[in-house]
Order: sequence, then structure tokens, then C-alpha cells
Amino acid sequence: MGYIGRREAAPIIVEGLKKLEYRGYDSFGIATIGNGIELDKHQGRISDSSHSAGHLKGKIGIGHTRWATHGVPNDINAHPHTDCLNQIAIVHNGIIENYADLKRELILRGHTFRSETDTEVAAHLIEEAYESEKDLLSAVQNVVPKLKGSFALLIISKGVDQIIAARYASPLVLGVGDGEFFAASDMTPILDYTERAIYLEDGDIACITPVTVEIFNGKNQVQRPVELVDWSIEDTRKGGFAHYMLKEIYEQPQAFYNSVRAITRETIPAPIRNPESVTVVACGSSYHAGLIFKYLLEDSCAIPVRLDFASEFKYFSPPIKGVVIGISQSGETADTLSALKQAKGHNCTTLAIVNVLGSTISRIADFTLFMRAGPEISVAATKSFIAQLAILMQIIDFIGDGEYEEVLLSGHRAIEEVLLMDLSGAVELCRNANSIFFVGRGPFYPVSLEGSLKMKEISYIHAEGYAAGELKHGPFALLSKETPVVAICMPGETYGVMISNIKEMKARGAPVIALGEQGDLELSDVVDIFIPLPETHPFIQVLTSVVVLQLLAYHTAVALNRDVDKPKNLAKSVTVE
Ligand code: AGP
Repeated sequence: MGYIGRREAAPIIVEGLKKLEYRGYDSFGIATIGNGIELDKHQGRISDSSHSAGHLKGKIGIGHTRWATHGVPNDINAHPHTDCLNQIAIVHNGIIENYADLKRELILRGHTFRSETDTEVAAHLIEEAYESEKDLLSAVQNVVPKLKGSFALLIISKGVDQIIAARYASPLVLGVGDGEFFAASDMTPILDYTERAIYLEDGDIACITPVTVEIFNGKNQVQRPVELVDWSIEDTRKGGFAHYMLKEIYEQPQAFYNSVRAITRETIPAPIRNPESVTVVACGSSYHAGLIFKYLLEDSCAIPVRLDFASEFKYFSPPIKGVVIGISQSGETADTLSALKQAKGHNCTTLAIVNVLGSTISRIADFTLFMRAGPEISVAATKSFIAQLAILMQIIDFIGDGEYEEVLLSGHRAIEEVLLMDLSGAVELCRNANSIFFVGRGPFYPVSLEGSLKMKEISYIHAEGYAAGELKHGPFALLSKETPVVAICMPGETYGVMISNIKEMKARGAPVIALGEQGDLELSDVVDIFIPLPETHPFIQVLTSVVVLQLLAYHTAVALNRDVDKPKNLAKSVTVE
């Protein structure tokens, strides 16, 4: 984050970094222009830290909260980084892929490095360029073409009343204030001050003063529109809930409702309305949404869907043609971005399904559908996942003949119903488990994958999602009374075989928690804990089963006193490969 204007910069940046912690929080730092560059940086979280760096003086400043990519989290590797003369300070999001070669050359030219980071090479390159250009903007314009990889940079220099911002493949937005400007990775920390946003594009370099901003792309000066952001400040606060995750789980009826209505048959891009085949690339929960989409679309419209982990697709991509859909809440996931670029390289039509306006993935795709789920702060994806399913189910409905319209327009009511469910028995079983298996068939297999990911990432209990029929081909060896199984067993052609699978697991001592249709006495008789879901259309049962598994993971994590919104080792947006 950066600030330049009529107020002291440090306190504004401290508060802003606290709101950006969900992007990474292993260390933090701030630099201001007071008597020269004033710098304060520490390992740890700014929200936990007793070192509030708010004492730094000056009305121009930059700050950073880090998710380490190069160099362990410590005070030295924390950003900002400075040049040899401590006259230039820089913060960076992304990866400078050619930093090793640049660093070697800089050392040969006599530069002294303090940190292990890739970022620091940019500080020294700008130092050299500033020596000859005597102008900070020109110096940065000279250096940026030498950097390979992804970066959002903010640069300040002693004696210069400007902030220089540069963006390539990592988000950077400017907030337009009255006699002051803000810069940040997204609008969350800026909304307290202004809703007027300027989204920088790849290749943009901006020269910011308290009252003006000049933006250059290459050698040309460009204009970027000032957009009004429709997220309220309240949206980015907890609203009385114990954690952002719980707030966002409870926002899911509204999120589903908004997302279903966000797109109409007319707004679905033409190439998506009757595709020969579809390829989906995504990561994590977004990948699970893609797998649910595969099951439902192939079953409903018999259109083949290929689904790949984005991180695999880029390096081992199949011969692809037709439509490639990139699903990404943040719109910044480096793996998904790379995969979509790969698809464009094969002349495929690309569709992005994202939640963040102005995000990189939405800017490179041929078409974009926004989830409209509102800002998702908690690291664990919840309402964005439900919003993705809303968009994907709508696409299925529009490709087909609209048979699901009524189902989708009322789906939010079933989600509301399960929000109030008492899961205390299931939580008690899970919180003491060594490992937990989540099993299902058909679209409930990716639901199981998603349930196990939620459990893993916030409770830290090992969990695995499995196709229910697969457990007997090996994992049965792991079953015991310490390994509860969460089985999703809904009416349909696989109901009978699921009941058999559950009995086999019980016979091996595993306690079984079953999600089933309310009133299913046969199922409730054979399991330890029965969780009844509303009797609805299968599409909606996918949604309600996901919500129950989100709540199961949430309450288990709370019971274990985990840091639910910022689990260890993770970040909300993984902008590195
Ligand atoms: C999900 O709970 C995780 N936070 C993670 O797997 C996430 O889904 C993944 O990193 C993809 O993020 P994206 O949707 O922003 O691309």
C-alpha cells in the first residue's frame, strides 16, 4: 500500500496493511519520506505486532505485508527494500523471475545486498538509473523492461514528492482522494477513504503526486478511467460475526441469489452457448467447482468437459481447441493466469469467471462473467465457491433449454435452511480425529474434495476427499475409530451402492457421518451421525451439502482454536507459481 497527500502517511498505511493481511502475513514493513527514508520492518503480523510502525514521519509512504516467495520471513527480507544509499525504497508483489542474473551483475558492479529477496534487485537497478536519469519516473521506466515475471511495485525516493507505481501481471489500484492519493493491491484498504478507483493495466507506470496522476504505458501517456467501486466499507468488515469466514458463509444465500441474477441468456458470451467441448482450468476450490460443472454439464447436455489443474495445464497441456474457462475468485492466481495465456496461445476462446473487478485474469480473457459475491476476505473460499456454482449452473441452464430456471431462482432458500443446522455431534467426532475421509459419488465426489480441503486448510486435520467406490481399493487399510468418514448419500442411482460402501466402512470400525435427504430412515439407521438435507433438486443438494461441509470445517477449526481467517502458511490469493 502507498499514500501521498496532506496527512501523515504511516498511520494510514498501518491500518491499510491490516486490511491487506489476508494476502499474506509473515512479515511487514513501512517506509516514509521524513528526514530521508525512514524505515521500520518486522517479521510477524502487523495486526499482532507491538511494533506499530506508525511513528514514522512524512506525508509520503509505502508499506507491505508479505507472503514469502524468496527468502524466509524475517526483518531483513520484509519489504520495503532500499538501495545502497538508502535513498530509494520499494515494495513489490509478485516474482522477478530473472532476479538471480540481475543480482549477479549488480554485485559485480559493486552493489551491496542486504536481503535474499528478488525484490531488492529492483531497488539497486533504480538506484543506478536514477544516477543517470536524475528523475525517478524516468529511472523506473528505464528499469521495468529489464524485469521478467510479475510485479506490482511502489517506489519512493528521498527528496522526491511522488510515488511511482508500476504494474505487470500483479494487481495494483489507485484510490483518488481529495488532495491525496492511495495505491494498493486491491480496494479493501482504500474504501475507508474513497470509492474512486483507477485500475492500472499491465505495463502501466504511474507518477503520483497529492493532486495528479500521470500514467504511461511504454513511452505513451495513457488515460485510465476513474471507476466507482460499489463495495461498501461494511462489506469488508466482519459485521458482528466472529470471523470473516462465518460472515461469508452466512452471506451465501444472497451471494447465490445475486450471482444467478448477474447473468442472463443474453449476457452469456455466444461461444459458450453451444460449445462443442469445454476445457476448464482452475486451482483449489475453484477446481472443485469446475469438477462439479463437469459432472452436471456432461450429464445434462452430454457436452464433453475436460478439467485440468491450472498448474499442470501450463506445462502438460493437451491439444486443445474450443472454449477454455478459467475459474478464479481472486482473478490473480498465477497458475490459472498462465493456463489461460497458454489457451490464448492456442487460439482458444477464453472465458474468465472471477469475483474481483479489474483483476488480471478478467483483463486477459476474451470474455468475463463476474461472480458478484462481494469481497471475500477469509482465506478459505466459501461464498465465492457458491457463486461460482451459481454461474456454472446458469451456463448449463442456458446451454440447455432452461429447465433449471425455477430451481436456480429459488436455490438460496435451501441454503438458508442449512445455515441453522446443529453440527455439534459431527464436530465432536472430527475435532479428535487423526484423519478424516470425505466420500461421495457423481457431483458429490467433488463436493467431498471441497469438504476435505476446507477441513484441511482451517482445522489443520489431515483430510482426504475420495470417490466413494475408491476407498476399498487401498484406503480401507487406514480406517479405524480414529478416522471418521463423512459420506454424502443422496437418493438416485448410486444410493444403494453408497449404502453398501458405508456398511463396509462401518465394518472396519470407522465412525460414519452421513449427509442425506431428510427423512431417510434407512441411511440414518446405519450411520453414527445423520445430517438431514432439505428435499430439493440435485443441483441444490450439491449446494446445501457444500454449505454443511463448510460449517463442519469452520466449527471444528473454532473448537481447535485455529486462526480461521488466516490459516498458517496460506494466503488468499496465490499470485506466484
Ligand atoms: C480455497 O479455500 C483456497 N483458499 C484455495 O484453494 C483457492 O481456492 C485457490 O487458491 C484458488 O484461488 P482463486 O479461486 O482465487 O483462483
